[in-house]
Amino acid sequence: MFNNAETDFLKWIYYHLAIPFFGRFPVIHLFKVFSYFAKWRKEHTGKFQVVNSREELYSAVLGRYADQNIDLLEFGVFRGDSLKKFLNLNKENNSRFFGFDTFTGLPETWNDLTRKVPAGTFNTDGKLPDIGDTRVGFIKGKFENTLPGFLEKFKSEGDLIIHIDSDLYSSAKFVLESCDHLLTKNCVIIFDEFYSLENEFLALHEYCAISDKKYKVICGTKNYVQIAIIFE
Ligand SMILES: C[S@@+](CC[C@H](N)C(=O)[O-])C[C@H]1O[C@@H](n2cnc3c(N)ncnc32)[C@H](O)[C@@H]1O
Repeated sequence: MFNNAETDFLKWIYYHLAIPFFGRFPVIHLFKVFSYFAKWRKEHTGKFQVVNSREELYSAVLGRYADQNIDLLEFGVFRGDSLKKFLNLNKENNSRFFGFDTFTGLPETWNDLTRKVPAGTFNTDGKLPDIGDTRVGFIKGKFENTLPGFLEKFKSEGDLIIHIDSDLYSSAKFVLESCDHLLTKNCVIIFDEFYSLENEFLALHEYCAISDKKYKVICGTKNYVQIAIIFE
């Protein structure tokens, strides 16, 4: 019925005008998010490895790259707990790990159905984690300020893994849109709060709907708290 240009135009109207407009009405917004998630579950449930903890998920994902150089970009570092686990799972000298964070906490309040986590939570007073691994570089500041400059210079040298653990919808959406050119076949993304439907899940849903990117889920914890996807 529609050609590609018309479909793209309708999508643009839907995601840039209709969604932000209806987003002002919480009930409609939630109904929309739940209906996206119901469709997502139908499409993916039963098709990926389910594990018991995020540590098991990290092992399952990074185990695919044992003895290979990887580039791992982590968005949301805090004290470096997840980053340290990734470093232990890949010991290759030429792997590179980049940790992005304000190190002054969440830039805005994180709202989801079950809680409100105020801006400033996860503040380390600007202190970087003491990691002692020369493969790690930290990029301090809001992603919105630091990521564009980083990406101008960054060339991926190994398999690319992205860890999104920044909780907020706005942060996940910004990372996905900014890294669009890197999100190609075989790039992996691990989401840490996927079950927070109005945040990471919604950001991924909208990003893929607009960009037409396709992915497979490779691993997830119970109740979809964390999931890992690979682009096709
Ligand atoms: C849950 S913590 C990360 C936890 C860490 N990965 C771990 O396993 O301990 C979320 C972090 O995301 C950071 N963050 C969220 N949005 C951000 C943004 N737009 N720019 C920079 N940092 C952001 C916060 O400062 C916070 O430290």
